[in-house]
Amino acid sequence: MMEQRRFTMDEVAAYCNQYGFIFQGSEIYGGLANTWDYGPLGTRLKNNIKDAWRYYFIQKRENSFELDADILMNPRVWEASGHVLGFSDPLIDCKDCKTRHRADSLIEAFDENANADGMSQEEMMEYIRVNKVKCPVCKGTNFTTIRQFNLMFATNRGVTSGTTSTIYLRPENAQGEYVNYLNVLRTMRTKLPFSIGQIGKAFRNEITPGNFTFRTIEFEQMEFQTFCKKGTDSQVYQYFKDYGKEFFNYLGLPSERLRFHDHEKLAHYAKEACDIEYKFPFGWGEINGTHNRTDFDLRRHQEYSKKSMEYLDEVTKERYIPYIIESTYGLDRILLALLFEHLQEERINDNDTRIVFKISPRLAPIKVNVLPLIKKKHSEKAKEIYQQLCQKMMAQYDETGSIGKRYRRGDAIGIPYAVTIDDQTLQNQLVTVRNRDTMKQENVKLDELVKYLKEGD
Ligand code: GAP
Repeated sequence: MMEQRRFTMDEVAAYCNQYGFIFQGSEIYGGLANTWDYGPLGTRLKNNIKDAWRYYFIQKRENSFELDADILMNPRVWEASGHVLGFSDPLIDCKDCKTRHRADSLIEAFDENANADGMSQEEMMEYIRVNKVKCPVCKGTNFTTIRQFNLMFATNRGVTSGTTSTIYLRPENAQGEYVNYLNVLRTMRTKLPFSIGQIGKAFRNEITPGNFTFRTIEFEQMEFQTFCKKGTDSQVYQYFKDYGKEFFNYLGLPSERLRFHDHEKLAHYAKEACDIEYKFPFGWGEINGTHNRTDFDLRRHQEYSKKSMEYLDEVTKERYIPYIIESTYGLDRILLALLFEHLQEERINDNDTRIVFKISPRLAPIKVNVLPLIKKKHSEKAKEIYQQLCQKMMAQYDETGSIGKRYRRGDAIGIPYAVTIDDQTLQNQLVTVRNRDTMKQENVKLDELVKYLKEGD
């Protein structure tokens, strides 16, 4: 068994920058705190995770439909959903060093057994005072009172100056699915239970962003809403909790680093709620949330829009507002978890180590590395093979440096297969395929190469 070492947070961030996965946002201007730009390899990895989600949630499920709603919505949507009044975090300032904190995080950092989730604003204030909770930066105890800070980004829209009105960047995708539920029902000629999924950006003015891409102000969600009849809701809820774990296993996150976290304090819309958490180096962190949102959202949209949100059961002729089970996935956090899970420094022998990203081949940003053994002799044939392969999959052609160095460069960015073109290719139509994880090599006939590389996809 080869010795392996997992990467720290700083090492993952440096790796992402060095190899083209993630760069600091607006870097040449000194950056903008907690914004990140995905580079060529990060973008491909993200797209492959999205495709896997589409396969798992849209393609292989009956009555599942994808939507692409606008980020900007009528502001009444956010009044109806409860976000204008209720989507806030308890903000507290240290008067001495002027740093800002979330009161609940301060309490939980002070005593990990304290349940700030279940406390009112007054109870949190009292807890901080009585226990002399310290500012994590200057260690002082001189805090302001707690204020509720709304996390929605507001902006203004106006045709002419003076006639502006506040609109919001959506803080969750879900409402796009809810306001279109009747459109999907009508046009897809479907019936309950059915689901609407959506991949897209969400924005939150987080008080304490950080941990690289774990908590940012702009991020991407893959949300899946299942509309069902009241009475079946708890069963559907349980089903999607388990389905979430299955999906994470399919992506390559092992069960031993995943756990359910059932919520005690529920969001204003939820009857039951549970997160799936992954064990990051900085602790357990939420990468999915499954919520039984009851008929709260549709009922509120009916009230605010004055449009009926009722479903007509054609068989029983019953009319009712469906319940919604939501399962939401944080794309950036999943990508980060996959980096931590599969990025390793591996000892090969007494004097040699390699960096290897053992991401599942179905998610790998580049699937195959095409390498002429000797540039002068084999590059023409290698380029021809590369041209054929890139019609079928993401391929890379690399002819610079020794073959060993080229293998290592490919390992570091997670290319599962390296195809080497040498004399036997010219003579017998055979290539050598090297496996990234085992480093074993096999001869494969050229006309069977695509099939070989696609096995297990
Ligand atoms: N529609 C329900 C909803 O938005 P949420 O638990 O607030 O639920 C869903 O967010 C997922 O989005 C989380 O499980 C997490 O993976 C991701 N997420 C939430 N806030 C985030 C942030 N500030 N940065 C990155 N990802 C975030």
